[in-house]
Amino acid sequence: MKSFYITTAIDYVNGSPHLGHAYEKVLTDVIARFRRQRGDRVHFLTGTDEHGQKVQASARRLGIEPQQFADQISGEFRALLTRLNISNDDFIRTTEERHKRVVREVLQGLFDRGEIYQAEYRGFYSTRQEQFLQEKDRLPDGSWPEIFGDVTEITETNYFFKLAAYQEWLITFLNEHEDFIFPRYRQKQVLEFLKEPLNDLCISRPRERLEWGIPLPFDPAYVTYVWFDALINYYSAVADQPGLWPATYHVIGKDILVPPHAVYWPIMLKAAGLALPGGIIVHGWWMTGGTKMSKSTGNALNPLDLVDEFGVDAFRYFLIREMNLGQDSDFTREQFLVRYNSELANSLGNLVNRTLNMTTRFAAGVLPAATISEPLEQELQALWTKTRDESLTLNEGFQFHTALERTMTFLNATNAYIEKRAPWKLGKSTEARDQELLRTSLATMAEALRLAVALMQHVTPATTEKINAVLGYTPGAVWSEELAWGTKLDGAKVAESLVLFPRPAPASKPA
Ligand code: MSP
Repeated sequence: MKSFYITTAIDYVNGSPHLGHAYEKVLTDVIARFRRQRGDRVHFLTGTDEHGQKVQASARRLGIEPQQFADQISGEFRALLTRLNISNDDFIRTTEERHKRVVREVLQGLFDRGEIYQAEYRGFYSTRQEQFLQEKDRLPDGSWPEIFGDVTEITETNYFFKLAAYQEWLITFLNEHEDFIFPRYRQKQVLEFLKEPLNDLCISRPRERLEWGIPLPFDPAYVTYVWFDALINYYSAVADQPGLWPATYHVIGKDILVPPHAVYWPIMLKAAGLALPGGIIVHGWWMTGGTKMSKSTGNALNPLDLVDEFGVDAFRYFLIREMNLGQDSDFTREQFLVRYNSELANSLGNLVNRTLNMTTRFAAGVLPAATISEPLEQELQALWTKTRDESLTLNEGFQFHTALERTMTFLNATNAYIEKRAPWKLGKSTEARDQELLRTSLATMAEALRLAVALMQHVTPATTEKINAVLGYTPGAVWSEELAWGTKLDGAKVAESLVLFPRPAPASKPA
């Protein structure tokens, strides 16, 4: 069986992790967990991008070695993975020998094939972006945009990769693989970008200017340009594990699609004679007050604090429920609380409470079998079948937010079913038929709950596990077999209660 190999971008270690990094990890984790549930052999890679001028400068400012600085921040990123319950199989650091060795091999291979050449370059250089600029980068008034910081004109000898030679090949490739980039409209943007002629890519930096990098194997007076180094992580991490390359998907943010992932990377692979990944999944940005969230924004509120305050699954749920993959989303605590209260505490939390309370009260804590099937039960079961089938298709198409919405609709319908059956009234009656209806309603609500949380498992794994445990239920090994409405819970002994999503304490008034 071909592996499902999925990666995130590797994060720069020049600043601590923030919401943007957290989202990408959670999103990729949701895809990885979903594919595992579907039976794929998943390999999930994430890591840190540790070379370059900014890291060198940050370390210098603190008076420590770049490696020490990188160790520290990379550790923070690794800790974030644990905190977010991310199921990655590997974590790669670009300062590891296994990575550097493969970068050297790829570079040497390209050099030997004549894909890399030396030339004199005169141009405008942005220290902040660590790149040479082009005339088209200037603003209409001739100045350089703010994002480039200080721009100076320099002449230096460097090494270049023959990017331009592959422009036509890349255009043809993208036209032949319309689904290479998700969402599709992003692929159109890449083709738009490719209407302008490409320049060859400068892939070296003189060591006197930048020491903190991987020396070129064929000229140690230079180090490798950061993107050339970083992109290769996807391959270097698995180069010695047969059957994993090519990656099935790379998950990245929209800011690093063009040109690095959509232009440099496919061309690098093609020129190196390596297979191309199956696709690139491009997410949007978390915004605050109209700007992209970064380590310097959102100082008043660190969204990652919500993990401690409300639990990891509430945080994961919010990110996936709120963001329509590909588009931008505003992050506010208010919106977080709306989803938390109405969907997790009300729709899901109430159903859990009712199921446990009523089973304890009316059936001595043992789930009875359903023996009646009237339109109320039939409608709920029919809604389940529809919810399940649609959700599977939606999840396969990366529409996780809509799949969760459907699951919430199903949970609400289950709560409405309980209102209609009113087991608390049936419990007061000694009529045989009422008793039968009572048992049926208890079995029905419990089964609906079991099914709904199975469908949310890739988003809220710990919650699904907890709910299964209080339902006295151990799921089988094959996830898809868990999704059929049936009698799996008959006779299960439930717990008396479970506090899942407690109401937040009222907000304290600002001092
Ligand atoms: N090191 C490069 C990637 C190299 S991949 C071979 C890099 N690092 S980064 O730390 O700046 O960004 C890592 C990922 O986080 C990127 O995919 C980026 O889009 C994502 N995000 C950073 N801020 C973001 C938001 N505010 N919202 C969502 N994701 C954004 O780029």
